[in-house]
Amino acid sequence: MEQTLKNLEAQALKDLEKVTSMPELETLELQYLGRKDGSVTNIMKSLKDLPASQKPIIGPLANKTKTIIEYAFENKRKSFEEADLTKQLSKEFFDTTIPSKIREIGHIHPLSQVQEEVERIFSQMGFSIMDGPEVESEYYNFESLNVPKDHPARDMQDTFFIQEKDDPKHGRMVLRTQTSPVQVRTMEKYGAPLRVIVPGRTFRYEATDASHDTTFYQVEGLLIDKDISLAHLKGIMKEFLSRLFGKDVVVRFRPGYFPFVEPGLELDFSCLLCDGKGCRVCKHSGWVEFMGAGMVHENVLKAGGVDSKIYQGWAFGFGLTRLVMMKYKIDDIRLLLGGDLRFNKQF
Ligand code: DAH
Repeated sequence: MEQTLKNLEAQALKDLEKVTSMPELETLELQYLGRKDGSVTNIMKSLKDLPASQKPIIGPLANKTKTIIEYAFENKRKSFEEADLTKQLSKEFFDTTIPSKIREIGHIHPLSQVQEEVERIFSQMGFSIMDGPEVESEYYNFESLNVPKDHPARDMQDTFFIQEKDDPKHGRMVLRTQTSPVQVRTMEKYGAPLRVIVPGRTFRYEATDASHDTTFYQVEGLLIDKDISLAHLKGIMKEFLSRLFGKDVVVRFRPGYFPFVEPGLELDFSCLLCDGKGCRVCKHSGWVEFMGAGMVHENVLKAGGVDSKIYQGWAFGFGLTRLVMMKYKIDDIRLLLGGDLRFNKQF
């Protein structure tokens, strides 16, 4: 019996060495330690049939053999499990030193950047920021601004009419051609005195090229109060442009015609590129044409419900899009709304 136990142990250890996978190990374990028919189990069961004199000697020996075999199986199992874990870890491993994927962070479009800057400067000078509808009635876009039906001035702003139902009170609907309609809307709503600027999109039926687009941005300004003159306009615009460009800017008036102002004028500022000496940008004149303006026409004040015997004021309108192009030296207007990120990222 002693010999049988020794052989069993030697055989088990030898078999175990040959095992190369977990399933093989499990089959072998059944062979030796299986509860029903394992060789070790059978030997343990047979102990009870030994003569009483042998039991104290063989019993402990058999137990020892069983423990050795169980231990050897246990070790083998652990070695497989560890190998498995290493394999899994190596699969799951990630290199913490690899730089992470860079997320693209959006940023503010140059038009919005300049618009914010314009709003900030005018707010500091006591102006409120107003907004108005982009689909406007013919009345606010033209009639209330002293451009009656059939007036030739309408031809200056060929435009998009909307086929929707007309406004019962105010006639046909149109994509507004200018931000000036907000003048009368604001007067109606707030009365005088008034100090507002109105940035916003405008639309014109244009053949698109490097300096014309069907959609562009304007900033309208309106100041109504007592004893207001064009000197105030000149002062405000000089201050605004100097703050915007961060250097002293000179402005000048030229006569100009707009139906909603009387007298009407155009405002130019000294070319910033050549300091007024003359260059390509200012067409060698030393001046950059900037905006239309004038004293608000009596008929416009009337349309807004403002008493022109007590109040007067001025209005102006400039192209925010043009200003952005000048500020950043952009030579094609189509780039601004083209949606090409390579363009936008430069600002
Ligand atoms: N609305 C004019 C345009 O779109 C610009 C303009 C000129 C606005 C004179 C004014 C103004 O308020 O007084 O061309």
